[in-house]
Amino acid sequence: MDRGKKTDVTQQPLGVAVVGAGYWGPNLVRNFQASDRFRLRHLCDLDVERARRVLGGYSTVQATADYPAVLADPEVDAVAVATPAGTHLDIALAALRAGKHVLVEKPLAATYADGMRLVTEAEERGLTLMCDHTYCYTPAVGRIREAVRSGELGEIHFVDSVRINLGLVQKDIDVLWDLAPHDLSILDFILPDTVEPVAVAAHGADPIGAGHACVAYLTLRLNTGAIAHVHVNWLSPTKVRTTMVGGAKRTLLWDDLNPLQRVAVYDRGVDLASPHEIGVDERRDMLVSYRSGDMVAPALGEKEALRSMVEEFADAVRERRAPLTDGRAGLRVLDILEAASRSLQFQGAVVGLRAGH
Ligand SMILES: NC(=O)c1ccc[n+]([C@@H]2O[C@H](COP(=O)([O-])OP(=O)(O)OC[C@H]3O[C@@H](n4cnc5c(N)ncnc54)[C@H](O)[C@@H]3O)[C@@H](O)[C@H]2O)c1
Repeated sequence: MDRGKKTDVTQQPLGVAVVGAGYWGPNLVRNFQASDRFRLRHLCDLDVERARRVLGGYSTVQATADYPAVLADPEVDAVAVATPAGTHLDIALAALRAGKHVLVEKPLAATYADGMRLVTEAEERGLTLMCDHTYCYTPAVGRIREAVRSGELGEIHFVDSVRINLGLVQKDIDVLWDLAPHDLSILDFILPDTVEPVAVAAHGADPIGAGHACVAYLTLRLNTGAIAHVHVNWLSPTKVRTTMVGGAKRTLLWDDLNPLQRVAVYDRGVDLASPHEIGVDERRDMLVSYRSGDMVAPALGEKEALRSMVEEFADAVRERRAPLTDGRAGLRVLDILEAASRSLQFQGAVVGLRAGH
């Protein structure tokens, strides 16, 4: 496949432009500037003053509101999109059509259909399309993925994810679209390739009259029969960020707000004796036995997730391979979000997911 001129020069930094200088864009700016794999060339925002403020007075990076000029710059190999989700399609599509590799903030696009257009365009052009599922690049989630995919936990029985706090009530999106992309992208990242969600049911409430759900519960059915649950809430007075992954052998608990013990692996659980080991007349509760082994808290590195994320973007471009969180990972998350929104409309009806993204 033809990956464009500059990407063949593997040792040179990739020229990159960031679009969006609001809340999140400056984090990308900082990490691109800190990485020797990139040279940041432009920061583009409709509000050029905002872009200038982010860069500061002495920067040689160009602050601009002129996106076509950014795309016309032959030194720009890649574009990173950190604008509101509703604008991702137009901005990312224009970049792909100009032959640039693209990194898009989560969620990949406002709809599955829009996301699919981006994935198709990138694949047809042989360009890298990556979605910034930031949490997937944290040392904790990397360790969880390893524990799940290596079989250390055994077959996965359940996943339970809680992401609640007094959140910024968004005007244009509900709590599901605001917070659940994190949990869903983590789920997508940690599960083995043969395990996937097949259906979702969502319940939500808007007790303060915000116009959309501020509290939501998602229940996902996996193709193995296992269950995953996601609880997102803008109205909780306390902040909780925990994910429990229960396996046949061990159960892992990730508490992102506990830096001393972010991940703990428990060799504790419940076993059922197989039916041939007991007589037919024995009561069912006789089958149950409890394991009460050790808890291990593995040491984790402290590398900033966004730093690893931008490095993965550069490596994927250079090695001409799909990034760990590619456009299709973004699509799978959008599929669940759309199905969950439909389920919310129908009071928690179970909605099937698309197969084979
Ligand atoms: N990865 C994460 O953990 C994480 C965290 C927060 C936000 N985000 C994502 O980052 C994106 C941006 O969110 P935010 O909170 O920074 O939004 P924001 O509203 O604070 O900033 C968006 C910026 O984009 C600019 N903009 C809008 N349309 C534009 C256009 N067509 N061309 C150029 N600039 C344009 C706006 O002027 C604004 O400065 C969203 O997709 C959001 O979901 C990701």
